[in-house]
Amino acid sequence: MKNIVVLISGSGTNLQRIVDCIASGEIPDAKISMVIADRECFGLQRAENAGIQNYLIKRGKSFSENLKKILPENTDLIVLAGFLSILDKEFCENFRGKIINIHPALLPKFGGKGMWGMNVHQAVIESPEKQSGATVHFVTSGIDEGEIILQKSLEIGENETAESLAEKVHQIEYEIFPKAINLVLMDS
Ligand code: GRF
Repeated sequence: MKNIVVLISGSGTNLQRIVDCIASGEIPDAKISMVIADRECFGLQRAENAGIQNYLIKRGKSFSENLKKILPENTDLIVLAGFLSILDKEFCENFRGKIINIHPALLPKFGGKGMWGMNVHQAVIESPEKQSGATVHFVTSGIDEGEIILQKSLEIGENETAESLAEKVHQIEYEIFPKAINLVLMDS
């Protein structure tokens, strides 16, 4: 049985998807041993509802240090599911190949500092791009720079808005995130 720790900052619909996939067996032989948020958010309630141990570690300088203190020793995979803090370099190096993130665009485009949430979709809409999508990648100390595990694209519609694009991208995320988790767990 593989142990997953999920880090969140927001509504946690991707967390919910992972919970549901574990329950249905789409993600086999795994469990979420802990959910950690860096701020108050609805995702913590989802963890509570699913009976998963959950903590809030205040965001800021000591986040990674405090995370290391409560992270279960047997953790096989750390999943960033809409998590907005930057983990420090040492932490990323210690857990190299064991931390994955989902990004709401086709990396390496529209990644890096400031490229999160609706900022990403707004930037895509204002660009000449005809496609967007979602990317699951390994986390390294460079923001959104780690090796890509899975990516799926979608066509941007004629009258697409940042909001409608966000909705479409979320659907793609629900599809590729469980697959990417399975791929990484298979190798761990
Ligand atoms: C997702 O779009 C993810 O790509 C981004 O943050 C959003 C989180 O959504 N990193 P949710 O909290 O899982 O609903």
